Amino acid sequence: VAASNEAGSSMFISFEGPDGSGKSTQIALLAEQLRSAGREVVTVREPGGTPAGEKIRAILLGEGGAVPVDPRADALLFNASRAQLVADVIEPALARGAVVIADRFADSTLAYQGYGSGLPVEELRGMIRFATAGRTPDLTLLLDLSAERGLARKSGSNRTRFEEGFDAAFHERVATGFRSLAAAEPARWRVLDASAEQGALAAEIAQIVHVALSAKR
Ligand code: TYD
Repeated sequence: VAASNEAGSSMFISFEGPDGSGKSTQIALLAEQLRSAGREVVTVREPGGTPAGEKIRAILLGEGGAVPVDPRADALLFNASRAQLVADVIEPALARGAVVIADRFADSTLAYQGYGSGLPVEELRGMIRFATAGRTPDLTLLLDLSAERGLARKSGSNRTRFEEGFDAAFHERVATGFRSLAAAEPARWRVLDASAEQGALAAEIAQIVHVALSAKR
């Protein structure tokens, strides 16, 4: 794809999926591909991505000693980190015409704290709207994988309090939650089989993003 073809409009893309679904690998491949087509790409990771967000991340992921956090406090902390990220990084990047790629965004709160922990999804939506000032992704890619396979892919040292602290049924509810969210909003979501071969999956993602960028111009 020639650089001039895709220069121009900004786009906000989020990747979602259970732990170990290979999001970070696919995000790196997509970012590289878009950059070589001449696009400015900004990648962000939730929670974190700003100085305040990284401190919140350390609390949330129990770095330096796990601390118990109530699911409501979890939801507020994730959204505090998200508010800072939207204001400081995502909005300025979109205003410059960049492509922003997020490794998780608000849908993770709905899936984990809502479907997983059982908090009321409609109340979470209100909190998310407040935190993001209404910013939503243009395109969300769900790397779908059974929770069981996702967890098996993650090495022990790579596991966070979220993988250690919750049982298989929790992760199954999260995976089901993501599928429900995708089904409810098919114009924004694309569901991909995360167990597909890495190169084939990357090509499929590149094609989806190319079509979305072409449609946006
Ligand atoms: P991380 O190590 O970034 O996981 P991954 O590599 O799978 O993205 O840890 C983030 C964890 O936080 C992950 O288990 C999902 C969870 N999470 C929530 O529970 N709510 C949220 O709003 C977000 C963004 C993440």
